[in-house]
Amino acid sequence: MSTINSAEYVELKQAIYREYSRSYDEDRQRFVSAESLVRRIQWALEPLSPGQRLLDLGCGSGELLLEAHRQIGGVGVLAGLDLSPEMLSLARVRADSVASLVQGNSLDGLPFQDGSFHLATSLNLLQELPRFAIQPLLEQVRKVLKPGGYFRAIIPCMADRSPASQAFQKLARDNGAMEFWWPEELEALLTNIPGFTQQEFRVAASTAASAAAGGETRFKFFTGLAEEVRRRGLDPNQVKQGVLFFSTRRGIETSD
Ligand SMILES: C[S@@+](CC[C@H](N)C(=O)[O-])C[C@H]1O[C@@H](n2cnc3c(N)ncnc32)[C@H](O)[C@@H]1O
Repeated sequence: MSTINSAEYVELKQAIYREYSRSYDEDRQRFVSAESLVRRIQWALEPLSPGQRLLDLGCGSGELLLEAHRQIGGVGVLAGLDLSPEMLSLARVRADSVASLVQGNSLDGLPFQDGSFHLATSLNLLQELPRFAIQPLLEQVRKVLKPGGYFRAIIPCMADRSPASQAFQKLARDNGAMEFWWPEELEALLTNIPGFTQQEFRVAASTAASAAAGGETRFKFFTGLAEEVRRRGLDPNQVKQGVLFFSTRRGIETSD
């Protein structure tokens, strides 16, 4: 994003997710096993209890919102924000009756009342954002959370610095503004954000890049990255990705 302006960023992301929306749910089963997906969603939703309020940033096709609805037995308030009209259409099919779905760019601020959510989640969103936007987004998240409220994010990242992984990372950045930081960079970015307490980080392996390298997915952007790695004489099967589990809480201060 240092090289593209905000209108170009929105256009690029919307184009990528317009294409991805056509195979999203089907590809999801190939990028991540069904068990991992369930475990990730359950981890993100752990702090949520019946009667509480949840905001899901980059809600995509609405899976987490639907699971949240089940978890709270329908008693509570759920909201999802996403930049892509096509991804939101998928979410509407799945979760329109259980959540309020809003189209918006999380870089432009969060259109919700201050102090209104017990939990904010974001699965596979933060890698989409430019580095300079992470702290401002967390500041917005802090504002919309209730004091003591949780923020839980799962963030795809790179797992090693092999030539194939470095080539994949650079291609993803140049062509999709997908940052895929290394875990230690992410930890540095997410530590000591004012107003938050109890940061926890955990890294797990991810099969996303290897699924694309094996040609198992229809999402052309990702398979294109794998093909380009191969064209450069590197083995796309050597691209190792991970996911960072990040949990933090808004501090219990008395006022803003
Ligand atoms: C990889 S998908 C993840 C979707 C969903 N959370 C999941 O895990 O299935 C990333 C989502 O973030 C959305 N997105 C990307 N940049 C965004 C932004 N700046 N603001 C809001 N949503 C954004 C995309 O449209 C897409 O639906």
